[in-house]
Amino acid sequence: MSPQFGDYQNEIYSDGLRGVVPGLPMTFTELEARAEAALPPSVWSYVAGGAGDEHTQRANVAAFRRWGLIPRMPVGAIRRELSVELFGMRLPAPLFMAPVGVIGLCARDGHGDLATARAAARTGVPMIASTLSADPMEAVAGEFGQTPGLFQLYTPTDRELAESLIHRAEAAGFKGIVVTLDTWVTGWRPRDLSTGNFPQLRGHCLANYTSDPVFRAQLARTPEQDPRAAAAHWAQIFGNPLTWDDLPWLRSITDLPFLLKGICHPDDARRAKDAGVDGVYCSNHGGRQANGGLAALDALPAVVDAADGLPVLFDSGIRSGADVIKALALGATAVGVGRPYAYGLAVGGTDGIVHVLRAILAEADLIMAVDGYPTLADLTPQALRRVPGDGGLPL
Ligand SMILES: Cc1cc2nc3c(=O)[nH]c(=O)nc-3n(C[C@H](O)[C@H](O)[C@H](O)COP(=O)(O)O)c2cc1C
Repeated sequence: MSPQFGDYQNEIYSDGLRGVVPGLPMTFTELEARAEAALPPSVWSYVAGGAGDEHTQRANVAAFRRWGLIPRMPVGAIRRELSVELFGMRLPAPLFMAPVGVIGLCARDGHGDLATARAAARTGVPMIASTLSADPMEAVAGEFGQTPGLFQLYTPTDRELAESLIHRAEAAGFKGIVVTLDTWVTGWRPRDLSTGNFPQLRGHCLANYTSDPVFRAQLARTPEQDPRAAAAHWAQIFGNPLTWDDLPWLRSITDLPFLLKGICHPDDARRAKDAGVDGVYCSNHGGRQANGGLAALDALPAVVDAADGLPVLFDSGIRSGADVIKALALGATAVGVGRPYAYGLAVGGTDGIVHVLRAILAEADLIMAVDGYPTLADLTPQALRRVPGDGGLPL
């Protein structure tokens, strides 16, 4: 039986009886505002910003408003079961932390990847650790405790380096490899362009490269001696414009569960399945890469259909427990939180992330209780109704 996540509210109300009110934000709007105040402006722009005029990023969020869960009464959903089996892992809930490449910089001490891994250990919510990390993946995995973690690969152009990164992830105990397909080139991001700021080019969050023997062997001087040359070399080898022809090679490197992130078209989901992946990950990178206009949630049902039973991970636009419920009902096997946990980290360190995750889980659990959907199997497309327009709320 999974924990009853809704009990988080009992803790908060009983603290209230003792005159203790929560120090951490209870709404996403306040979380966002406090994160903006806590972060240096350049980090805030990088995390909060997206591609173009950020229409896609807003559409990702707005798409959830066009769906409503139909309450069912009287169901007596006194206990809810949210635990899920994924790639042989038993997870307390179908929730995970999406890879966030500069999460290191969102922590005051510059070690946000470690703080995130500690939050995973405390909550049981897995972290997908990004290739772009302020600490080497081995150190990140060292903080996972009993919670499994996955490694997200930005495939470098150098195949030997790609293999080294994957083999290191295996040795460090990661339980799966997520290859991100939508970021071999950076999308047009006006906020970052306005300040000429791209953190990795300044040498940030490159620890997985600078700690890698293959990467190091490619440099004339060590990254410690010449960090600028290391960052310049990173820029040369970072983005591999993969095609389906590269898939057999990538798939052959590891026996770990292998997923492709950035799949939004059903044909691509089918092709991924044919290529032998263990799961597809439907996401538009939170609208950071292409201002294409299609909300990731609107792409999800067709991807689920085409995946034909393969697990489908989903992210882009999740801001609340209600959003998690809708993505699950539309067929996601597990749902990823992105920006909200980065903001939680900025506001309250590991405690801030733990709070954000517990609040999302509590809301999801209580919606299942109130609306009479006691198990994940009850959350089907038939549980939702599409509502006209924007769901009655101004954007
Ligand atoms: C600051 C930032 C950095 C990110 N870095 C990565 C990354 O390194 N690898 C990756 O696959 N996705 C990365 N993403 C995308 C997230 O994994 C996820 O798809 C996205 O945050 C979902 O959108 P949302 O945060 O608006 O819900 C990043 C997202 C943000 C906000």
